[in-house]
Amino acid sequence: MSRDSADTGRSRRLRAALALSAVGLLAAVGTVVLPGTASAASTLGASAAERGGRYFGTAVAASRLNDSAYTTILNREFNQVTAENEMKIDATQPQQGQFTFGNADRIVQHARSRGMQVRGHTLAWHSQQPGWMQNMSGTALRNAMLNHVTQVATHFRGQIAWWDVVNEAFQDGSSGARRDSNLQRTGNDWIEAAFRAARQADPNAQLCYNDYNIDNWNDAKTQAVYRMVQDFKNRGVPIDCVGLQSHFTGGSNYPSNYRTTLSSFAALGVDVHITELDIRNAPTDAYRNVVNDCLAVARCKGITVWGIRDSDSWRSSESPLLFNGSGNKKPAYDAVLAALNNGNPGGNPTTPPPGGGGCTATITPGQVWGDRYNTSVTVSGASTWSVVVTITPPQKISGTWSGNPTWDSSGNVMTMRSNGSGNTFGFTTMMNGNSSARPQITSCTAG
Ligand code: G3I
Repeated sequence: MSRDSADTGRSRRLRAALALSAVGLLAAVGTVVLPGTASAASTLGASAAERGGRYFGTAVAASRLNDSAYTTILNREFNQVTAENEMKIDATQPQQGQFTFGNADRIVQHARSRGMQVRGHTLAWHSQQPGWMQNMSGTALRNAMLNHVTQVATHFRGQIAWWDVVNEAFQDGSSGARRDSNLQRTGNDWIEAAFRAARQADPNAQLCYNDYNIDNWNDAKTQAVYRMVQDFKNRGVPIDCVGLQSHFTGGSNYPSNYRTTLSSFAALGVDVHITELDIRNAPTDAYRNVVNDCLAVARCKGITVWGIRDSDSWRSSESPLLFNGSGNKKPAYDAVLAALNNGNPGGNPTTPPPGGGGCTATITPGQVWGDRYNTSVTVSGASTWSVVVTITPPQKISGTWSGNPTWDSSGNVMTMRSNGSGNTFGFTTMMNGNSSARPQITSCTAG
């Protein structure tokens, strides 16, 4: 139903106007937090933590821990850390049987002493193998790989929240096949063998499979990884999570079915993590969509960006991160923080307003375009209801569905009443130049 065709009955207008007056009164008092209003944390990690205990993290390079501009942002913004290169096989076992953990330990110490969780990356991978491993094959390689998993996971036991046990083991393209590598040639069961060894070495770490180009639900690679995880769950192979690297570029962009991918993996009984996010030219829409998609899936535990400043990025010429080379926040940062602050932690319920209430309204962010975005609201606790939604001008609601809307005189406060079409209604909001504000639920009243 369009806004123009909305019920514009006099009495309803009056009630809506009264609701607006109440909002104005509360605003005038100054310190009243409206029920259902998401709190506005000022950093990424703090805001993510408020969204159901999620994290917002970054890849960290040990060599940059002496750069105070870098650590200032790291320590302020992030509550999770992944070692960008320092836990890889060539870094931790440069010579067979000789383990070096100095740089990795520095990162772990820096993070844990500040309450940041650590993701281990990565125990078994075809890439960044030290020379001695590259030259191995067969049983000797399989045993060396398992020994590496055991030794490294044991060294960090108790300090790592999630391990990327196996990284990038599937081919791109339409085959859905495993990637050919010396590890794959040791036998198709190398992945599950690595997971079992990791579980034994660190029973409390969550064990993840991590890959890129598994973001689009329709891709053969996504489907192949999905089938592997399904098979592992069916057979009791110890896997707890899937990491979607999400390096979005022109060739592999944010797919509109990303949320479907996240929720489909989650439905297998694993957590999902966005592990290496960066997006060419850091478009605000794509960053915002990624955050909204993660917040919409209860098992999406957090987001890690692959570096802090553009100058720290493995593809710095594409300026894909949230901070510029001078350490200043980019528009993508603002979009991410706003999405986190406005997001639904799998429950941003309203509490009943004085003299009313009896129901709960929960916002779920919907799709975002360049000029507008969708929002849906689900009501529980009543079958007939009215929900008051407040929009920040110059944003304007341009269309609604599955409810009867009325408006206050400013057009910024919508009262949506049930119309018998269910307990979820939705609406489209034009941004009109303000891309970060999001609707707030002011009240939910039964009857
Ligand atoms: O530190 C040495 C330096 O001493 C030397 O002079 C220089 C010359 O090449 O190399 C430096 O090491 C480089 C290292 O990054 C640190 O900058 C390596 O050559 C380079 O290969 C390495 O690249 C890393 C890449 O993985 C290797 O595969 C990137 O930093 C790292 O961001 C990237 O991360 C991967 C994830 O692990 C898995 N997913 C994809 C992601 C992006 O490729």
